[in-house]
Amino acid sequence: MSIQTEIEQLKKEKNAVILAHYYVPGDVQDVADYVGDSFYLSKVATKLDCRSIIFAGVEFMGESAKILNPEKRVFMPDKTADCPMAHMIEVEDIEEVREKYPDVAVVCYINSTAETKTYSDVCVTSSNAVKIVKNLPNQNIFFIPDQHLGSFVAQQVPEKNVILHSGFCPRHHQITREQVLQAKAEHPKALFLAHPECPEEVLAEADYIGSTSGIIDYATESDEQEFIIGTVIGVFHELKLKNPDKKFYAVNSGQVCVNMEKVTLDKVKKVLEDESNEVFVSEEIRRKAMAPLERMLEMAK
Ligand code: 13P
Ligand code: SF4
Repeated sequence: MSIQTEIEQLKKEKNAVILAHYYVPGDVQDVADYVGDSFYLSKVATKLDCRSIIFAGVEFMGESAKILNPEKRVFMPDKTADCPMAHMIEVEDIEEVREKYPDVAVVCYINSTAETKTYSDVCVTSSNAVKIVKNLPNQNIFFIPDQHLGSFVAQQVPEKNVILHSGFCPRHHQITREQVLQAKAEHPKALFLAHPECPEEVLAEADYIGSTSGIIDYATESDEQEFIIGTVIGVFHELKLKNPDKKFYAVNSGQVCVNMEKVTLDKVKKVLEDESNEVFVSEEIRRKAMAPLERMLEMAK
């Protein structure tokens, strides 16, 4: 029996649903019930009729699914799969800004720990950050932890005072403008599609800026045939499935999320079998972290 068939059977047996982010390996995306960007997956997680969720992604994703679904069991195929950016902010950083700007709204990228969320007013993802910041009543915004998504939002919402933090995604941060120009010279017909976790000078060269789903949809709907992709190359799997005749190029060879790559098919099967790697969040943290997540789901409508 193939591992895919075994996983199918185990899913039924355990009444489990698999959610996968576009950055995990393609064969894991293929066995998932839902594949998407961070926002889509957090929305889907609130609407599932199942006993357990297998989250093929990194820690903050499994944690958010658990926070929103306390009655379900959530499992991670690899418990060490974590997003380094989520740990780049300290509670003291938030307290300092709150002291200086008592009316500030702390806007927390979903790529953050549950503890950070408890100190935040609203969560955002790359697909709704601009809309949510625009619609907040507050003039002062502390955007944490991603400096690049924060500066993209600041540009799109110039009427607000957006205070930036210093966090970043190591995979997007290492993409340079020079590399983009080089890739454009090599592929002169290609459009450049970038994720807002890229540095500002990289985004300045982009024909489209959006979340992983946004990039996939844009390339799929476009009449153009070639694209340079400024995000983690996990998205190539869905891009190629939807666009077998189009060509996709990375900007450099470092666009791999080593943490998402830890999520293998074998580990998905194992976690279904032995129900290990369960996600637990204390009730106090869960309740406090749920408020900014629910506000995001409401404000993004
Ligand atoms: P999105 O899928 O929401 O665009 O997020 C990208 C990301 O880096 C997730 O860690
Ligand atoms: Fe975190 Fe970057 Fe990996 Fe996304 S791609 S999970 S932001 S390290």
